[in-house]
Amino acid sequence: MDVILIAAVTADGFIARHSHEVVEWSQDISLFKEQTMGYPVIMGSNTFANLQQELKGREIIVVHRNDEPVAILDSLSTEKCFIAGGGRTNTKFADHLTHLFLTPHPLVFGKGIQLFYNLETEFGLELERFYTVNENIVQYQYKVLR
Ligand SMILES: NC(=O)c1ccc[n+]([C@@H]2O[C@H](COP(=O)([O-])OP(=O)(O)OC[C@H]3O[C@@H](n4cnc5c(N)ncnc54)[C@H](OP(=O)(O)O)[C@@H]3O)[C@@H](O)[C@H]2O)c1
Repeated sequence: MDVILIAAVTADGFIARHSHEVVEWSQDISLFKEQTMGYPVIMGSNTFANLQQELKGREIIVVHRNDEPVAILDSLSTEKCFIAGGGRTNTKFADHLTHLFLTPHPLVFGKGIQLFYNLETEFGLELERFYTVNENIVQYQYKVLR
């Protein structure tokens, strides 16, 4: 199964200013909807609490601190699923990621919630394709190399 991390990031690698920020600066919401429609979307409890609207047409799996990523992924039978943040949840699933869909935004926060919280592993990426969202924004679709 493809396990795809999907995130809007600042130019300096942040996904939010703080854990309870509602991310209103993202310009790729409609792309997120299009790409995740019909597939399970896995997110942490902080991210879920910040959702402004129901994500219709997708199974939402809310992750808590004692949840095991393998058990969650093994329970799925779809060809792909999406890891939709936040930083702690991205790190929890880091060892299982097959792809990263990243949309850098023309912003610098300097501090905040990083794409990965305290990640202790390294991996390489290969650009598979990119998608132009608008004149300011491109989504980069990377394959994870292990
Ligand atoms: N830019 C983007 O694309 C994007 C995407 C997604 C999210 N975000 C933003 O990211 C932010 C949330 O990120 P986040 O990393 O704070 O939260 P998160 O990953 O959404 O949720 C926190 C997770 O960490 C667990 N946790 C909390 N405290 C812990 C601790 N002390 N030790 C171990 N586990 C702990 C929680 O479990 P419990 O439920 O048991 O507490 C939960 O599973 C929000 O502002 C959200 O809007 C941005």
